Amino acid sequence: MEDKYQFAKELVLDAGEFLRQHLEDELVIEEKGHFTDLVTQLDKTVQENLTAKIMERYPTDRILGEESLEHLPLGQGKVWVIDPIDGTTNFIVQKADFAVLVAYFEDGLGQFGLIYDVIEDKLYHGGGQFPVYENDRLLPPFQSKSLKEGLIGLNAGLYAQNYAGLGDMADHTLGTRSIGSAGISFAHVLTGRLLAQASYIYPWDYAAASILGEKLGYTMMTTSGKKPAFYGREYIIFAPTEKINEIKRYLR
Ligand code: IPD
Ligand code: CA
Ligand code: CA
Repeated sequence: MEDKYQFAKELVLDAGEFLRQHLEDELVIEEKGHFTDLVTQLDKTVQENLTAKIMERYPTDRILGEESLEHLPLGQGKVWVIDPIDGTTNFIVQKADFAVLVAYFEDGLGQFGLIYDVIEDKLYHGGGQFPVYENDRLLPPFQSKSLKEGLIGLNAGLYAQNYAGLGDMADHTLGTRSIGSAGISFAHVLTGRLLAQASYIYPWDYAAASILGEKLGYTMMTTSGKKPAFYGREYIIFAPTEKINEIKRYLR
């Protein structure tokens, strides 16, 4: 697994370097069903490059990528989960706060996860048998604090709707933040900048963070308190495991 993990780190760093080199390219922007759900030629190219490199080295492994035509379940076999650009809207409009996300599973068990904040040049990596790092800095497990000492990552829509009681929960924290990249928001939970993060997202958005978080005392669950299905889109909250019972008191 060590070889595969090193390979994955190089893969993700190279993808980030590619995106930095192409940051000022003229973008071909397409809508995927709604004018706020965008994809560019660079999302597709990065996914194609990652897929080609993985297939060349591990021809029998399988890929679950956001931009793939087929979205397979990841319960069986060796599966790489890829989000080539997490935060495409940020990539287009802000040229910052976007990430490359990769997670690797064997028979449904997370082996390692990678979140690469491309502009900050911060790679969050580890999980499974590997300790969790931000670049070369070993990340400690969750450092205990109360809800009212922390911030929650939550977008304005979910807060305004008080979806599943998330607004009520947020009212018992110092406030909300909304970054526009689920992957980077989850990384902020891992470093303690956010206490928790809730979003309506797909497996490629949360797979890497769920593997990293398991190692450091965080839980990825649906807002109804279940284990995520790792299939289709769900309302997900990522929070310190020791806070889950308290958080559940606000959720409905
Ligand atoms: C999106 C981002 C965003 C989240 C959306 C995701 P994408 O990913 O993670 O923060 O709110 O639900 O779809 O489409 O830019 O890869
Ligand atoms: Ca995404
Ligand atoms: Ca994406």
